[in-house]
Amino acid sequence: MSQANLKKAVGYWRAMLPLGLAMLAIFAAAPQSAAAACPDIPMAVAGPMTGDWALMGEEMRRGAQLAADDINAKGGIGGCKIALVVLDDQGAPDTAIAIAKAFARDRVRFVVGHYNSGSSIPASQIYAKNNTLMVSPASTNPGLTEFKLWNVVRTAGRDDVQGAFAGEYMVDHFAARNLAIVSDGTPYGDGLANKVRKALRAKGHPEKLAIKVRYDQINFGDLIGRMKAAKIDVAFFAGLGDQLGRLIRQSDEADMHLQFISGDGAMVKDLTGLAGPAVQGTLIVFSPEDRSNPAAKDVVARFRAQGFEPEAYTLKSYAAVQVIAGGIEMAGVQAPRLVAAAIKSGKPISTVLGDLTFDAKGDRRQPDVAMYVWTKQANGGLSLEPMK
Ligand code: ALA
Repeated sequence: MSQANLKKAVGYWRAMLPLGLAMLAIFAAAPQSAAAACPDIPMAVAGPMTGDWALMGEEMRRGAQLAADDINAKGGIGGCKIALVVLDDQGAPDTAIAIAKAFARDRVRFVVGHYNSGSSIPASQIYAKNNTLMVSPASTNPGLTEFKLWNVVRTAGRDDVQGAFAGEYMVDHFAARNLAIVSDGTPYGDGLANKVRKALRAKGHPEKLAIKVRYDQINFGDLIGRMKAAKIDVAFFAGLGDQLGRLIRQSDEADMHLQFISGDGAMVKDLTGLAGPAVQGTLIVFSPEDRSNPAAKDVVARFRAQGFEPEAYTLKSYAAVQVIAGGIEMAGVQAPRLVAAAIKSGKPISTVLGDLTFDAKGDRRQPDVAMYVWTKQANGGLSLEPMK
């Protein structure tokens, strides 16, 4: 996101603030149906709903909304319905902080979010002070849970796991070639780049070039020139899909045909639109395909019936709502600290990702990663497929 867009995002939030507060107030005071046994439970989904990462925000919103609808259709949590609000942090830490503070005032105690680690980490500190539990479907920086805050849980994986996997893969498959690591300079990008670097070094094949770009950079001529001069063959990009797409396209246009590899932040369906045909062969590390999980079968079918393909973070967001609901049920109360303790107790919670168990830090006990590759199909189209 450009600096101008960032300012716009904060402005957007400020402009939306009265509306946001009004919405929250409505939910908090919503009259209950005659059959309801208790007041609605205000819950929020917060992520980049507009801007460069809006597709990921849509996945979060769709996932959380269907989960809330499904739980409410079955009577809610102990008779209480979830009242979901959607808020746009535009992937900007300042906006995420403003949202976290507003939630505190408006007594939203359960949050599905945020997307960017750079937003989740500062927001988590505010939530911790304000009695709010957050479950991030997407933030993978280890620091999010390593601060050991009482209130943080994630259905996403971790960058130490995906970084080690990516680094080992690079050495195992491209050891004879010159490797580079490019970071977008965010907490996510830098953290992931460090984990990849550590894995390359542990295998005795350090990168030849390590470069940082700005997270809002759109022209990569300098970077491509430096990679050309260093005769780089394989580049790990630690950042988000919009930049990777542009980098692939511009490298191709500069006649620099690199093998790119990236992490979960580049798991975006429009990568091919941004990168063009040169995306073919690009490798992406992500968790094993959630849509293939037998526990997700019915929910996947319902998303498809809505005309929405539940890719990437959709089912992790659906599961985040289920984790909060499961925690409330286990705790028997809506008190966030008790709910968090119940989630982190190690008892399984049934979700669309299967039965999930969490450790005391709030990380999933069954982290797993897989490699995907952008592949040309018989009809000429490109799609991201699990590596065979
Ligand atoms: N996994 C990415 C992050 O943590 C989206 O920022």
